Order: sequence, then structure tokens, then C-alpha cells
Amino acid sequence: MKTLLRQTATILLLTIALSGCYYDKENELYPNVACGDTTNITYSRSIAPIMTANCNVCHGAAIASGGVITDNYNDLSAVAQSGMLWGAVSWQGNPMPKGATDTISICDRTKIKKWIDAGAPNN
Ligand code: HEC
Repeated sequence: MKTLLRQTATILLLTIALSGCYYDKENELYPNVACGDTTNITYSRSIAPIMTANCNVCHGAAIASGGVITDNYNDLSAVAQSGMLWGAVSWQGNPMPKGATDTISICDRTKIKKWIDAGAPNN
């Protein structure tokens, strides 16, 4: 009887532990999610908020992980021009945000790509 109880408990715990490893990958589940305005991309309105939400915690000027700073226009535009920004957010280079299980959203990547392609302007 004790063994049966222990086995049942073990199976229950395993089920809970394993189901906790299931991640919803937004990018795979909803590839066509509406992005809002992706035509009028500006640094201040579109790009800076993405950096604040995803990157500045490790790449603020005071911390500058890996020597990369994303919390102001001058530093971020240099990272963009070098190709490292797109490499990082598209996971072709060093995948960022570091430690994340997925890239930032397709919408945010689209905005960053358009901004870089436009020459990473300070607007
Ligand atoms: C949890 C902390 C953390 C977050 C969040 C984070 N980074 Fe990083 N990043 C690092 C560290 C640490 C490095 C240094 C290289 C390494 O350890 O992989 C780095 C390196 C980089 C590099 C240099 C890559 C290279 O090839 O040398 C770029 C570019 C970069 N990050 C961009 C970003 C962007 C853009 C975001 C937001 C989408 C972001 N990071 C979010 C910690 C972070």
C-alpha cells in the first residue's frame, strides 16, 4: 500500500514538473498577430520602448553588458549600423535577450528591421 502511494505521488509530481516545461511560443502560435503601426517607425516612438522593455535592464549605460549600450540613440544606432542589433534580435548572432526561451515578438523585430533598413534615423 505504501509503495502504491509513493508511486502515485511520484507520477503526480513528475507530471506537474514536466508540464511546467511547456512554453507557449507566441511567435510560433500566432505568426500573423497584428502589429499596429509598422509604417511610421521612429526611434523615439517605436524603437526606444522596445529597448526599454527588453534590453536596457542589461544594456543600460551603467551596466553595458558585453560593452553594448541600448538605452540611448547614439549608442544604439552604432550597434544597429554594425549589424549586431539585427543579429541579436533575430537570433542569427548572439541570441538576445540573453537567457530568453524565444526571440522578442515578430512585431518588435519587424519594427527594428524597418528602422535599421531606413538607416537607423534619430527621429
Ligand atoms: C539578461 C541580460 C541581457 C538582456 C535582457 C539582453 N542582453 Fe544583450 N548581452 C548580454 C550579455 C551578458 C552580453 C555579452 C555577451 C554574452 O555574454 O553573451 C550581451 C551581448 C549583446 C550584444 C553583443 C553580441 C555580440 O555578438 O557580441 C548585443 C548586440 C546585444 N547583447 C543586444 C541585446 C538586445 C538588442 C537586447 C534586447 C532585445 C539584449 N541584448 C538583451 C545580456 C543581456
